[in-house]
Amino acid sequence: MEAFKTLLAMLLLLASALCSANGKTHEHEFVVQATKVKRLCKTHNAITVNGQFPGPTLEINNGDTLVVKVTNKARYNVTIHWHGVRQMRTGWADGPSFVTQCPIRPGGSYTYRFNVEGQEGTLWWHAHSSWLRATVYGALIIRPREEESFPFPKPKRETPILLGEWWDANPIDVVTEATRTGAAPNVSDAYTINGQPGDLYKCSAKGSVIVPIASGETNLLRVINAALNQPLFFTIANHKFTVVGADASYLKPFTTKVILLGPGQTTDVLITGDQPPSRYYLAARAYQSAQNAGFDNTTTTAILEYRNPPHSSPSKVKPLMPLLPAYNDTNIVTAFTKSLRSPKKVEVPTEVDESLFLTVGLGLNKCPPSFRARRCQGPNGTRFAASVNNVSFTLPNNISILQAQYLGIPGVFTTDFPARPPVKFDYTGNVSRSLWQPVPGTKAYKMKFGSRVQVVLQDTSIVTPENHPIHLHGYDFYIVAEGFGNFDAKKDTSKFNLVDPPLRNTVAVPVNGWAVIRFVADNPGAWLMHCHLDVHITWGLATVFLVENGVGKLQSIEPPPADLPLC
Ligand code: C2O
Repeated sequence: MEAFKTLLAMLLLLASALCSANGKTHEHEFVVQATKVKRLCKTHNAITVNGQFPGPTLEINNGDTLVVKVTNKARYNVTIHWHGVRQMRTGWADGPSFVTQCPIRPGGSYTYRFNVEGQEGTLWWHAHSSWLRATVYGALIIRPREEESFPFPKPKRETPILLGEWWDANPIDVVTEATRTGAAPNVSDAYTINGQPGDLYKCSAKGSVIVPIASGETNLLRVINAALNQPLFFTIANHKFTVVGADASYLKPFTTKVILLGPGQTTDVLITGDQPPSRYYLAARAYQSAQNAGFDNTTTTAILEYRNPPHSSPSKVKPLMPLLPAYNDTNIVTAFTKSLRSPKKVEVPTEVDESLFLTVGLGLNKCPPSFRARRCQGPNGTRFAASVNNVSFTLPNNISILQAQYLGIPGVFTTDFPARPPVKFDYTGNVSRSLWQPVPGTKAYKMKFGSRVQVVLQDTSIVTPENHPIHLHGYDFYIVAEGFGNFDAKKDTSKFNLVDPPLRNTVAVPVNGWAVIRFVADNPGAWLMHCHLDVHITWGLATVFLVENGVGKLQSIEPPPADLPLC
């Protein structure tokens, strides 16, 4: 009996130890609903979560579990994606509409359950259905485990900075109109910081976001590019940023005046109150690498305000405006990107089992014979398109790819996505018009569990070269090299950084250039890889990696939750 009691006590102790190793569970309710939001002198019926814009900030520690019940009270289908969360064996909680789940219909609900493990820093969540993420997004902050600390001095304050993009219209109408006409969608009317355009826009001074600081303090800004279609420069007057992390992985710290974020990317920076106590603008505006394309050239601002107690009533002096890079300053982008390093030597796969070469870029479809001219308002009576290896991705519409795969339902997708372009050409040169029209398809690329994967992402100059923020779901990857022109395995492979490359979930592929990523396919599921410019996903710049189950019990995807929405 005594021995049994001791055993029981030991078991209980073990269980509680295991529990604490597994972290806490955080339960949240997200109600997706139409909410009155006043911006740019006008009241909009924006889709929000819980009536908040931006949506609620989720704060957890590494190792914790999130349980988020999403109820859809809006009139659109919706799903929520936890951008950058690895979703180890929980692909059902990833969120992209028709890839890992059917959308949550109006009136429906679905509970996302997942664990966050081995990631620290800043991620975010957003709607992953049509263009709803224009207003449906929020920060996901992952702090170190309770007994651990940041690999830099503990910041006095932490402020999430969500860069967004605002239309003086319903964003769903904007994309619907573009899909109807085949032309490029209207550009946005403002960028925002934490939902506010800031002083430089009409009717916006009052809501301007204030970021407080005191002299001598060092604070952490968690910067997220939640804009739909625009890479953004972000800078601050008279201060410097010390970059310490990106996409929830730490970086070797370095200082810079300006950072660049493609949509989807996050960057953690420290700022120190080392300037005369006053007011300074934080500002973001476009990095525009595409040619002959319209873009929103406005500037959003927030105010860094010194609050030095006891005289803490801040002066209302006009804030100092920083200098921003020119819209097309690719040199600044390159210099910034080259500065990103992992803090120490990392485990990059040195051998590769799967080697993919993917062209990413735009295209133009000829006007289908059944279409009237008003549906072909792209250049010279065409419709805009985009593709990966000439396949313009189309979503299924009656079941998700992951469900079809799991249940063995045929006819939803094919697994013949090509590992290299069907035709070799001078990708960044003057491309023959005969190669401008992609082929639509719902094709996935299958890989074995545990494969060591290398993907070369090659921009094309079809229609226009452009910096494409390519995001892979379900994984972080090492960016081992980037360059301009066409990737040349013979001369470029020797330049790979296999020592301390940055670990990210979104890579900004250089305009008219390429990037090489590596990762181990250790997470079974159907993982979308796409350009995070929503206009390009709309046009088909996406594909799916289908990672098979492994043999071990912990190498298979979990069974789907009982409340997984049906189509
Ligand atoms: Cu942040 Cu597929 O998305």
